[in-house]
Amino acid sequence: MNGIIGGTSLLSSSIFAGWDEKKIETPYGDTYVKISGSNVFIQRHGTPPVPPHKINYRANIWALKYLNVQKVISVNSVGSLKMKIPPGTFVIPRDFISLWIAASFYDKEMKFIIPEMDAGLFKYVYSLARKVKMKAKSGGIYIQTIGPRLETKAEIRLLKRHGDVVGMTMPSEATLCMEYEIPYASICSVDNYCNGILKEPLTMEEIGKSWQKNMNVIEVFIATLLERNFE
Ligand code: HPA
Repeated sequence: MNGIIGGTSLLSSSIFAGWDEKKIETPYGDTYVKISGSNVFIQRHGTPPVPPHKINYRANIWALKYLNVQKVISVNSVGSLKMKIPPGTFVIPRDFISLWIAASFYDKEMKFIIPEMDAGLFKYVYSLARKVKMKAKSGGIYIQTIGPRLETKAEIRLLKRHGDVVGMTMPSEATLCMEYEIPYASICSVDNYCNGILKEPLTMEEIGKSWQKNMNVIEVFIATLLERNFE
């Protein structure tokens, strides 16, 4: 089985409209998946959607493992820390910083992984993005913040020295997949410049507008991914 995880931008996507919805009971609570053939889709925020700091990552990844998913490609929305990565770019991160957020299945056992993004799936996602003519950037560091608020200008001044994009979700999912040894790669849609990167103030309207545009591009990417059966 192949897994896709999407965010709020894919909430109303028609791609998954005809897929079978299934409730999966997990040790971490219930989650809902959509299944079509050998493909599973999870809307990470659930329905009705919960904000980023309340996402049940463990239930989501546990469900994918339970369904015997062998690889996961996820779509994550991010802000850009770099002028040379404008909104409309799609970044495939090679590494991440998530120093303050604990994501683990191991609450009782002493088990420590050494994190590493999957090199093969990373290359695959980048090459597919190029094939469908996305403005793709290979590599980059994703910095995770807790949310749900966006970052202060002072926080962004600090973070921009250490990473390329900021989001609230990807490293938690990547870490849990690593614990289960499921290859995971992400394609991040850059929806805005982070707060304070531009002189003009950041607005939610602006983020919403690029979200919509980027979603149309991501839908082409996912449709192609499904056509090719992740190969
Ligand atoms: N910060 C954090 N998460 C985000 C952003 C941002 O600027 N844009 C989209 N997701």
